[in-house]
Amino acid sequence: MGSQIICVVQQKGGAGKTTLVSNLATALIANGKSVALFDTDPQGSLGKWLDEREARMGESESLHFATATAFGISRAIRGVKDTTDYVFIDTPPKADSDMRWVLSEADLVLVPVSASQADVWATADVLDMAERADKPVHIVMNRTRSGTRVGEEVATAVAELDATPLKSTLAHRVVYAEALGKGLGVIEAQKSGAAAQEVRALADEVLALLGT
Ligand SMILES: Nc1ncnc2c1ncn2[C@@H]1O[C@H](COP(=O)(O)OP(=O)(O)OP(=O)(O)O)[C@@H](O)[C@H]1O
Ligand SMILES: [Mg+2]
Repeated sequence: MGSQIICVVQQKGGAGKTTLVSNLATALIANGKSVALFDTDPQGSLGKWLDEREARMGESESLHFATATAFGISRAIRGVKDTTDYVFIDTPPKADSDMRWVLSEADLVLVPVSASQADVWATADVLDMAERADKPVHIVMNRTRSGTRVGEEVATAVAELDATPLKSTLAHRVVYAEALGKGLGVIEAQKSGAAAQEVRALADEVLALLGT
């Protein structure tokens, strides 16, 4: 078995990288898959999420976590790739040359874009890097607010970027922040809520892109 590797990158802070990683990971684990998470962000939010999670539900065989440097990511992945279905790499809010080490490992690159013009401006550099690394890259619209003017403006600006947005989007919902703070995915925090539905749809779309 070889893992499929999903890198989540966006130089704009707070766009939803860690939210995307924690929610996709928990959706896959709920489907019986094994997941490894690597955090290359020195802020360490994903590790704190996992600390909360383990305090609540103990350690899980299907969820491996480690911090890693961008340069060390290849070695880190080698250690899990025979025993893990999916690897997620969470990254810091910057797009420097170190990012190439992370991108070179990716089977799929996801770029969250929060519903603000500043996020769209920040996105072009990251898309360039992913394209130079010759990796499939998709935008994931996050914190969407349907029916708002800013939402429409951002959607128009994103459509002009050089990457296809996924059909699935994540709306602005308090449960995303609540679940993150509790070490949960939204599918665990509110099993049948709207957030859970959109995360399941997103996970299905990601798996389809990976051909699994
Ligand atoms: N769809 C959403 N609805 C509501 N809150 C959200 C949503 N997505 C993210 N958030 C909240 O916004 C904050 C930033 O999200 P997150 O930590 O995932 O971003 P990030 O890109 O990882 O940030 P950083 O660049 O600092 O690593 C968090 O408090 C998170 O809970
Ligand atoms: Mg983060």
